[in-house]
Amino acid sequence: MSLDVARVRKDFPILDREVRPGVPLVYLDNAATSQKPTQVLDALRDYYELHNANVHRGIHTLAEEATALYEGARDKVAAFVNAADRREIVFTKNSSEALNLLSYVLPLGPGDEVVVTEMEHHSNLVPWQLACTRTGATLKWIGLTDDGRLDLADLDRVVTKRTKVVAFVHQSNLLGTVNPVDVVAAKARSVGAYVVLDASQSVPHMGVDVQALDVDFVAFTGHKMCGPTGIGVLWGRADLLEQLPPFLGGGEMIDEVTMAGSTWAALPHKYEAGTPPIAQAVGLGAAVDYLTDLGMDNVRAHEHELTAYALNALQQVDGLRIIGPTTNDERGGAISFALQGIHPHDVGQLLDERGIAVRVGHHCARPACLRYGVPATTRASVHLYSTTADIDALVTGLDHVRRFFT
Ligand code: ALA
Repeated sequence: MSLDVARVRKDFPILDREVRPGVPLVYLDNAATSQKPTQVLDALRDYYELHNANVHRGIHTLAEEATALYEGARDKVAAFVNAADRREIVFTKNSSEALNLLSYVLPLGPGDEVVVTEMEHHSNLVPWQLACTRTGATLKWIGLTDDGRLDLADLDRVVTKRTKVVAFVHQSNLLGTVNPVDVVAAKARSVGAYVVLDASQSVPHMGVDVQALDVDFVAFTGHKMCGPTGIGVLWGRADLLEQLPPFLGGGEMIDEVTMAGSTWAALPHKYEAGTPPIAQAVGLGAAVDYLTDLGMDNVRAHEHELTAYALNALQQVDGLRIIGPTTNDERGGAISFALQGIHPHDVGQLLDERGIAVRVGHHCARPACLRYGVPATTRASVHLYSTTADIDALVTGLDHVRRFFT
């Protein structure tokens, strides 16, 4: 069964709006955040209208309903990524918080090494830079090839017996590259390093099975997968999360507290200090239901076909250089490009005049921009509701941009 995109689009009210009178929205900024279907908006409203209470604290009816909805969302997320155990799903604020959590709790010290890649989003780079400064460990990285892939020739040089953590992105938000998780994880495993995967751009667009990936930790975020902002997920192997220390201290993450010290709650609560993002988790649960009903294989197939169409169409635009893989193998639907002689901010502004929303800048992945000799790019990124008409509008818009500057 393939995706009925016309029907899917009806679920997203925002896609019907005009940016200004007579100018319909063409939304191609999905790598920054996805739009939300009515089903998610309804779940949020329903939660606040009928069930709102704090979780795990009360014995009144609303508290029990809210707790059941919050924990039910955890079950949905666990099933969505095929976690072996629901306790392995920790709710965070976003991917950045999940990755910061790991950068604090994984044991590091002088002489240890952390390996990342040159295509990391700042959220999977800066926390490790800070961790290295704090602990005396050293940061190393795997470089990139000219065509936007990981330079796997670097693996043996960079990953050594001193490597304690290998943290890398599944699908690049800048380049669109889908990395060979099995190859990198196998190398990390061979030296006994923890394997951390930033799946912020993959979980929303393809079926991700955390057990099949053979990594230790996976971070992703709700707002890119049709859920609300303010909710992210850390999946971690239960045996590891059980051994590691807590991150944030406070209510709900404790077992017993005295003035002399505290002991920790069982997983996953050990990592969920304070009142959690309850409504956001419920909304994420609704997003997971929505994506599950559509089928992630169908989502992936639709986006794959659309990405091929977009790569081909964009490469017909004079003076356009794609930053990242130009072919559709092992690639997602975030396409960054430079237009010769035209600054991306001008491109973004002129496209916006035509209702076309793209992202411009370094996309929180500045080292990769530097690697390809561009200070910034324009990035178009698709999602399950995107169409060839969106891509055609972009290409027409880019012709308009070029004419404006010549
Ligand atoms: N990480 C998001 C992006 O790539 C915000 O745009």
